[in-house]
Amino acid sequence: MKIEFYKHNIGTEEKNSLLETLDSIFLTTGPKTTQFESDFRTYLGTNYATGVTSWTTGAFLVLKAWGIGPEDEIITTPLSFCATANVILQVGAKPIFVDVDPTTGNLDINLVEQAITLQTKAIIPVHLYGQMVDMKSLRKIADKHNLKILEDCAHCIEGARDSIKPGQLGDAAVFSFYATKNIASGEGGMIATNHQELYEKLLLLRLHGMDRSAIDRYTGLYRHWDMSVLGYKANMFDIQAALLIPQLKKIEDHWKAKQAICEKYEQAFGNQPNLDFPKVLANSKSARHIFTIWVPADKRDLILKGLQDKGIGVAVNFRVIHLLKYYRENLNFKENDFPIAESIGNRTITLPLYPKLTSIETDYIIDSVLKTVETT
Ligand SMILES: Cc1ncc(COP(=O)(O)O)c(C=O)c1O
Repeated sequence: MKIEFYKHNIGTEEKNSLLETLDSIFLTTGPKTTQFESDFRTYLGTNYATGVTSWTTGAFLVLKAWGIGPEDEIITTPLSFCATANVILQVGAKPIFVDVDPTTGNLDINLVEQAITLQTKAIIPVHLYGQMVDMKSLRKIADKHNLKILEDCAHCIEGARDSIKPGQLGDAAVFSFYATKNIASGEGGMIATNHQELYEKLLLLRLHGMDRSAIDRYTGLYRHWDMSVLGYKANMFDIQAALLIPQLKKIEDHWKAKQAICEKYEQAFGNQPNLDFPKVLANSKSARHIFTIWVPADKRDLILKGLQDKGIGVAVNFRVIHLLKYYRENLNFKENDFPIAESIGNRTITLPLYPKLTSIETDYIIDSVLKTVETT
């Protein structure tokens, strides 16, 4: 059997929506982008949503809009994709990592306050695998020290914790529509916020600081535009939005299918020797973006190979950021700096999880994991 690590959800509706765009005037930021932004903020319940070309460009723009730069520090987790910390370096600031909670893999809220200095300007929590960080507690800490929160929601659109959804307590929440995400357009991103001032800055910064977008310039009579601030080039375009609009409508149905697969995985892998997985807390709805198992560190790579030999697509989310070559060589991080994140990073394996995964495939994956772990 061959089981892909991921299969996207682009079907007839998405193709028709894309054809509509290809037959229209607007390939760049136009009516589809506006519609998707409106649908997305309605789904989340935030005041504003700004479409961008990726999570990375979106988070970069937010940090720029907040005026964060050299001499500033931002607190984040080492157990994430490198983009989370790279954007901090890209604006010239310093990432300050804190270790993670051993049960969920999420930023350990109890360690945040002791990492705050006079240079700290913001916190970037990552809602890892789809489970939200404790935003209520984090908001209290941020308010006490006058810090901004940028939520890394690359894994978490459908999640909730303590009845709080992504984007509701953060100053900005940034989403990814990268090829393997819960809704995907190959590349793409969204910034949700409740702050009007930030939203208005982002509209300028995502398109060179120009005061008129293409839709303003070409709808009706031509009008001159001006540039008031130095901006960047990160505007979501209609080809991306066309693919995303129908997917957002199906997101809850797809979540139910993924939730059922995860429940099956959790049932099968609970109470097994040499096998564990991050726990979804009782007060939390995980977006179920990624399902990872934790195996003994010295056997992880052998088990990875064993599963691939059985035709199962796997991944590792994540080997810790601070031990990547660039971070070790330029920021002097070393082993044991963040032992819990390192331990999870060394033990983790990501299994296939997507609505198209059949129950025969799920059973095959479960059987293969149990056998491979037992015999390795
Ligand atoms: C946790 C996390 N943050 C950020 C990103 C970056 O997203 P993008 O590729 O849209 O820039 C990813 C992407 O995979 C991610 O997993």
